[in-house]
Amino acid sequence: MWGLLTLFISLIVFCYIFKRKKNIIESLNKFERKYRVIDDLYLLPLIKQFINHYVVQCLITKRFSLWYEFESNATNNISNSQIAIKYARLIPGKDFKIDGENSFEIENLTYKELYNCILRMSFILREEFGVKKGDKISMYFMNKPIFIIIWFSLWNLGAIPTFLNYNLTSNPLIHCIKVVESNIVLVDDECEKTFNLTKDQIKFQLPNIKIFLINEIEFMNKLKDSKSPKFRENDKIRDEFIKYWDPAVLVFTSGTTGLPKSAVNSWRKIFMASHLFPRAMHMTKESNIYTAMPLYHGTASILGVLPALIVNGTISIGHKFSLSSYWTQVKLCECNTIQYVGEVCRYLVDSKKTLNEDYCYNKIKLAYGNGLRPDIWMKMKKRFGIFAIGEFYSSSEAPFATTCYEYNGIGIGAIRNNGYLASKFLGFQYKLIAMDSNDETIILRDPINGFCREPKINENGEMIMRILNPKNIKSTFPGYINDDAATYSKIIRDVFKKGDAWVRSDDLMKFDELGCIYFVDRMGDTYRWKSENVSTSEVENQILEFVPNIKNCVIVGAKVKNHEGRAGYALIQTKLNNIEEKDEIKRNELLNKIYDSSIKYLPHFARPVFITFETIEFTDNHKISKKIFRDPILPSGKNGNLKIYYLDSKNKGYSLLDAETYEKISKGEIRL
Ligand SMILES: *[C@@H]1O[C@H](CO)[C@@H](O)[C@H](O)[C@H]1NC(C)=O
Ligand SMILES: *[C@@H]1O[C@H](CO)[C@@H](O)[C@H](O)[C@H]1NC(C)=O
Ligand SMILES: *[C@@H]1O[C@H](CO)[C@@H](O)[C@H](O)[C@H]1NC(C)=O
Ligand SMILES: *[C@@H]1O[C@H](CO)[C@@H](O)[C@H](O)[C@H]1NC(C)=O
Ligand SMILES: *[C@@H]1O[C@H](CO)[C@@H](O)[C@H](O)[C@H]1NC(C)=O
Ligand SMILES: *[C@@H]1O[C@H](CO)[C@@H](O)[C@H](O)[C@H]1NC(C)=O
Ligand SMILES: *[C@@H]1O[C@H](CO)[C@@H](O)[C@H](O)[C@H]1NC(C)=O
Repeated sequence: MWGLLTLFISLIVFCYIFKRKKNIIESLNKFERKYRVIDDLYLLPLIKQFINHYVVQCLITKRFSLWYEFESNATNNISNSQIAIKYARLIPGKDFKIDGENSFEIENLTYKELYNCILRMSFILREEFGVKKGDKISMYFMNKPIFIIIWFSLWNLGAIPTFLNYNLTSNPLIHCIKVVESNIVLVDDECEKTFNLTKDQIKFQLPNIKIFLINEIEFMNKLKDSKSPKFRENDKIRDEFIKYWDPAVLVFTSGTTGLPKSAVNSWRKIFMASHLFPRAMHMTKESNIYTAMPLYHGTASILGVLPALIVNGTISIGHKFSLSSYWTQVKLCECNTIQYVGEVCRYLVDSKKTLNEDYCYNKIKLAYGNGLRPDIWMKMKKRFGIFAIGEFYSSSEAPFATTCYEYNGIGIGAIRNNGYLASKFLGFQYKLIAMDSNDETIILRDPINGFCREPKINENGEMIMRILNPKNIKSTFPGYINDDAATYSKIIRDVFKKGDAWVRSDDLMKFDELGCIYFVDRMGDTYRWKSENVSTSEVENQILEFVPNIKNCVIVGAKVKNHEGRAGYALIQTKLNNIEEKDEIKRNELLNKIYDSSIKYLPHFARPVFITFETIEFTDNHKISKKIFRDPILPSGKNGNLKIYYLDSKNKGYSLLDAETYEKISKGEIRL
């Protein structure tokens, strides 16, 4: 009562002053700009979610599976009409270039239909394929509704879905299946041809594995048929022994190129992604999110599908990214939200006008995703009439994400633009630490007490994330499955005080005066290319292993004009100390060998895009000092006379890079 009265009086006083003094408004605006209280207040209901989670879920019900929430909503009244999934299917025999809009057919599933399909799929998985609780089931699928149906069916059965990159073959693919100890692999019939390349090898190396081909059309007909039997697992069985840091979904990060690492997405992280994230991104049940990102990546599945379903919204899936039909698919699915990765935005912004782009102008409330660079942020908003950009930063294995919901010009290019209060609150969970200014891969420690410090405004620092219980690392940071060495190598201790523990992100960031955080660069021995991480050492190993006559090889990431991330740049020293470079025939022979092995042994994003010959010196302790090779300059080195060869996919080999070619590359006329 008193509170209300006080509020009322303050309001009157406030209005009075408001009228009298215009400059008060101005200073209020300034205050709001600086502290962004209103933006933060919007996040307040999250506190209730947190309490609900930590108190009710973690202490009382001990029920962590998202299955229950999905189910309770899907069996609710509205679920008969609310669309959960839309899918833009290219009609067989039609061609977008010729038939335009008419080449697509939009399929949709309501929440109720989706739920029933899931129960029927669960029956098949259990009775025909023998899936049991705790099984890790690998899925080799392209984007389509059945992906989501199988995923939730596995949750229903208490099994753990593992998403495989459908372009993986040979050793990396076998490694993925092996490392998660999968006993069953489900293969999309559309990916059969690629899978076949490795099938015999898999059967030979893993004789006990069961492989099932899923004929999508046939299965979907069965799943939609009300006569098909259903199965719902007993809650007791589903919940038994489940702890909140147990894996809910296994997703591979391309962290190590040759051999991907499987990152555990725990129920805890799934909770954050499905409850906190949509709020931070202002998603509601009206949200209809278009994603053409591959569902096997966490971005589309965990931060696309889950948030959409949890707010009762719609997830619209594109089969795969298509520049020419992008806006047509958005239109046909009636989307108001799109999901991106940095490259996609650049393609869209650089592209000529495509069909239905004008139609979609001003219809997109939010474009959200990861890796949108400051230089195209506003171009993206202006060209397509997008109301807000929702950039986030997260890593497949890290405990949570940062978000930047930018609608008013504050935080352009940032990965976080929360106000003062939220920043203080979140600052408990992650911090930046200053780096050595001579080598920004080395953490700066105080010479006397050994602790780290936070960087100053605009000074680069690595982002680190707090481990709540340093005695039990895995409760906050489940890390990589069956790879403790990789998991623990990410941990640093005694950072701000004795005994604390943090996870390194390998990403450099900086603060501005408003407290917004900006991504600066990936550091050290990985770089990003085509939204994938490439580990330099893995690529080096592959080249040294498979290309004969190479003595030393160093891979670094090269910045290419107008391109996101960094392109692989290989420095090569042959056993004959680069004599080959002088002789055209020998040189081409060598370059062709590198080309062939790259195509054969490396995923497309990890293939060296540039090659140059170099004498590689070792340091005293027999290490190659990569530092001196970092940040190579294209197209012809610092002095302008270095010969650099580029991966020329047209000629199926490496060709000399000259200024003219580089110009074409930077304009996108030659695709790397
Ligand atoms: C279901 O509804 C509840 C509110 O009753 C909401 O908190 C939750 O996010 C919804 N979950 C799903 C999966 O739709
Ligand atoms: C929901 O369904 C129940 C019975 O199934 C019905 O009594 C109730 O009126 C429905 N509510 C709405 C809002 O349609
Ligand atoms: C859903 O798809 C069916 C055809 O499969 C179509 O008849 C219906 O109009 C669609 N509903 C919506 C809301 O788009
Ligand atoms: C990835 O696999 C799909 C389906 O098998 C195929 O259409 C596509 O061309 C492949 N992409 C690459 C880069 O290999
Ligand atoms: C894949 O291999 C099987 C035999 O193992 C064969 O029957 C099938 O036709 C192959 N599929 C494709 C698309 O090549
Ligand atoms: C989703 O729909 C369910 C069922 O109508 C409802 O109980 C729930 O509150 C909704 N959730 C949200 C976030 O709107
Ligand atoms: C790249 O590496 C980061 C940090 O290790 C990881 O979280 C992220 O998921 C990786 N990206 C991909 C596409 O695998």
